[in-house]
Amino acid sequence: MIILKTPDEIAVMARASRVVAEALAVLRKAVRPGITTDELDRLAEAEILSRGARPAFKGYRSYPKTLCASVNEQVVHGIPSKRVLKEGDIIGLDLGAIVDGFYGDSAVTVLVGQASERNAHLVRVTEEAMYLGIKQAVVGHRLSDISHVIQQHVELAGYSVVTEFVGHGIGRQLHEEPQVPNYGKPGQGPRLQAGMVLAIEPMVNVGKAAVKVLEDRWTAVTADGSLSAHFEHTIAIQPSGPPRILSQL
Ligand code: MF3
Ligand code: CO
Repeated sequence: MIILKTPDEIAVMARASRVVAEALAVLRKAVRPGITTDELDRLAEAEILSRGARPAFKGYRSYPKTLCASVNEQVVHGIPSKRVLKEGDIIGLDLGAIVDGFYGDSAVTVLVGQASERNAHLVRVTEEAMYLGIKQAVVGHRLSDISHVIQQHVELAGYSVVTEFVGHGIGRQLHEEPQVPNYGKPGQGPRLQAGMVLAIEPMVNVGKAAVKVLEDRWTAVTADGSLSAHFEHTIAIQPSGPPRILSQL
């Protein structure tokens, strides 16, 4: 069942998502060669708490940290550690917050120091794919219209979309129905309605789509070791016109 949100509930979700957006903006500026992913995690937690919100991921299915920090071939769910970022790395920063019982969820991928054109291109294409998907989130379209444009854009660029992880409905739970795959034929799945709130989150690999999960039971990496990027916004479908991107400043 897809739980539609009232305008008042969407207003609360906008607050949760804004906290995430502001914290991600701080993290983005903190990313530099020499910083550890643990330091980014501590910063993320401080930024969320100082805004009167709670970290959404810490304790979720025993996830140990506030931030997911996924470096290079890590696709998603990288656990912050003593790992030191170096020039030329890319890092996915995925963050969630809870305000008054509602979740916000967003992710960006950031270039560490001077980036190669190759890395910058992957990051750009992944972000573009997310925004193309978001544009499809209008009343009257079907869910897979979002999925389809994401896949198209990614594959036209010569990259692969990850299929093992998907976007999701979001609300009083971090993960609600429906699942939002980043691939598929258009015109399938539920009709999009005002009040649906979705986390749209393409994960894109330079090489093949396959991923595997490391021994730590969380970190997903590309099976072929190729580079991977991830962007995510929480969006609310409006009665008419384009969606409201709740996690955008
Ligand atoms: N943005 C991710 C998701 O929607 C983050 C979940 S990490 C977890 O699934 F630790 F909370 F699982
Ligand atoms: Co998510």
